[in-house]
Amino acid sequence: MGTAWAATPLPADRRVPGHQLTPARRARLSAVFPGERIVVPAGELKVRSNDEDYRFRPHSGYAWLTGLTGEDQVGHVLVLEPTGPEGHEPVLYLRPRSPRGGDSRYRAEFYRDRRYGEFWVGRRPDLAEAGRLTGLRTEHLDDLGKLLTGPQPATRVLAGVDPALDAATARPGDEHDRQRDGRLAAVLSELRLIKDDWEVAQLQLAVDHTVNGFEDVIRALPAALRHPRGERWIEGVFNLRARAEGNGPGYDTIAASGAHACVLHWIRNDGALDPGKLLLLDAGVETDTLYTADITRTIPLSGTFSPIQRQAYELVLAAQDAGIGALRPGASFRDFHRAAMRVIAEGLADWGVLRISAEEALQEDSGLFRRYTLCSTGHMLGMDVHDCARARAETYLDGVLEEGQVLTVEPGLYLQPDDETLPVELRGLGIRIEDDLVITADGARLMSGALPRSVAAIEEWIGTLLG
Ligand code: GLY
Ligand code: MN
Ligand code: MN
Repeated sequence: MGTAWAATPLPADRRVPGHQLTPARRARLSAVFPGERIVVPAGELKVRSNDEDYRFRPHSGYAWLTGLTGEDQVGHVLVLEPTGPEGHEPVLYLRPRSPRGGDSRYRAEFYRDRRYGEFWVGRRPDLAEAGRLTGLRTEHLDDLGKLLTGPQPATRVLAGVDPALDAATARPGDEHDRQRDGRLAAVLSELRLIKDDWEVAQLQLAVDHTVNGFEDVIRALPAALRHPRGERWIEGVFNLRARAEGNGPGYDTIAASGAHACVLHWIRNDGALDPGKLLLLDAGVETDTLYTADITRTIPLSGTFSPIQRQAYELVLAAQDAGIGALRPGASFRDFHRAAMRVIAEGLADWGVLRISAEEALQEDSGLFRRYTLCSTGHMLGMDVHDCARARAETYLDGVLEEGQVLTVEPGLYLQPDDETLPVELRGLGIRIEDDLVITADGARLMSGALPRSVAAIEEWIGTLLG
């Protein structure tokens, strides 16, 4: 069994996508923590049941620093080893391709290991190939233990990603060390807040694939309407496109018919489609480089908005326009949310739904208003759908927008079916309009403008695609 296998080297010129950008990313991280060891794991498999694992996706911080995004990164660890008072040498600890022959202790893995064996899960690079792919010094993962038990410089670990690594590096009861690890997570989020041109192009690709997926869904509406679980049909159609053109959906697709749209993260998707109601579809394709779109459209399943659906939809659209209009470098991150909420509050006051003035409703402590809007109006977008979530408040939520940031603007109106403050005709309407934008030198560019937003444009879009 161990003989008569031809050599199958990877092409010598193959590199990970974006490999030219990773040295500068690591240098920025290195500069924040001079003289300290920095440990960034890709993460471990999570058991689904018995000998089945959930599909693996490496941690975004690891992928950003190495360019490695594949399912074969299970358990791998990037270590930035201090080279002196300043500077680090990056070393990638990985599980290389196991040999088929010879007397290597790893030989049995090749044939028998269902998690790592090449006949089970496919080929991995060997140490030299991984070095060429990434430009990093590579070491066998089995040698990481020695490093972590030898003489220890001050060490920061990206905690909560790889439980075995957390245990191996645990310093029980040392609150100071835990705080240091939290600071590494925050810095890794903050370094990713501004996207470079290559990353913006990846996000545009994610958006373009997502547009294809939304168009597939419109074309599939007649079949979905016939199916008793039409929401699932929609999810499946979108996810087919996501998987075919990218790595898959960047988050669980939300396909919500009628009042299901009043549940923010309706991912059960087990309802039928009601032809007289709206469908809220919140979905995004993640590229193979792990950048995701996050887009929502709310459409009339009949192809035409009813007067009350139109009234509610146009209020959300006006709120979104106001939010988008507030995007510019130097604006507070919270400005676009406030701009959108003002429009919604004034609209609800005009409809007589608010029993207080829009001004009173907009006060921070007014719970009444939140009842109809549920969440804030957007978030950073990138390798994670809720990107850079560990960034400190002063750099993100309480910070200002900067050129190169990518974010969503997604106001919504969620009028619960059992909300007795509402006129009956408004109950059960759930509407969100979500677009992806990049902050430019003087404003913002709409990346998802290929999908229609206005009532007339949506109706025309449905009509055209359904012919
Ligand atoms: N799809 C999750 C969100 O819109 O934030
Ligand atoms: Mn979103
Ligand atoms: Mn979304």
